[in-house]
Amino acid sequence: MLIRRARKEDYAAFAAIEAQYPGFPAWGPGGFETEEGNRNSVTLAAEAEGEVAGFINFWILRPQVQLNTLAVARAHARRGAARALVGKLCEYAAKNLCREIDLEVNERNSGAIALYAALGFEVVGRRPKFYNNTDAALLMRRTLPAKD
Ligand SMILES: CC(C)(COP(=O)(O)OP(=O)(O)OC[C@H]1O[C@@H](n2cnc3c(N)ncnc32)[C@H](O)[C@@H]1OP(=O)(O)O)[C@@H](O)C(=O)NCCC(=O)NCCS
Repeated sequence: MLIRRARKEDYAAFAAIEAQYPGFPAWGPGGFETEEGNRNSVTLAAEAEGEVAGFINFWILRPQVQLNTLAVARAHARRGAARALVGKLCEYAAKNLCREIDLEVNERNSGAIALYAALGFEVVGRRPKFYNNTDAALLMRRTLPAKD
């Protein structure tokens, strides 16, 4: 599993992955392109067997990192792509002296919640009707150890 910076040529593949998950708050290629203009924004691609297996986008807003979007193609599920993408996010966070990583996840998305719990995130809040004025979001946070 290779984790690398995303390129413009990846965006169509990212959009195709988003489309595999009905109800997923998709950015589409244009959303990823817009992020290129935000200097706090990092988009990474996971590559496996020569194809794009997944992506992550986050903002480095020291002392926090906000995880905005993450998805892995169904064909590459449960092979550690998401774990590797979040692991790389944590490396960026540590290098940028960030102390916590925050995200919102649909409270009905049990797979993603299990992923984040396995990676050390804890539920720190809940936002009712966050998605389409219907589903609630759980706010999850992982605190990173201070560097002396
Ligand atoms: C959630 C998602 C990103 C997981 O990606 P993945 O590459 O399959 O996850 P990984 O293989 O890295 O899983 C790491 C660990 O997370 C947990 N996990 C991941 N997916 C899980 C699922 N569907 N059910 C239960 N646990 C899960 C497991 O502990 C897993 O370890 P294991 O496989 O050794 O048991 C992927 O299913 C996805 O893209 N879903 C749709 C989009 C989405 O929900 N994104 C998150 C939005 S906040």
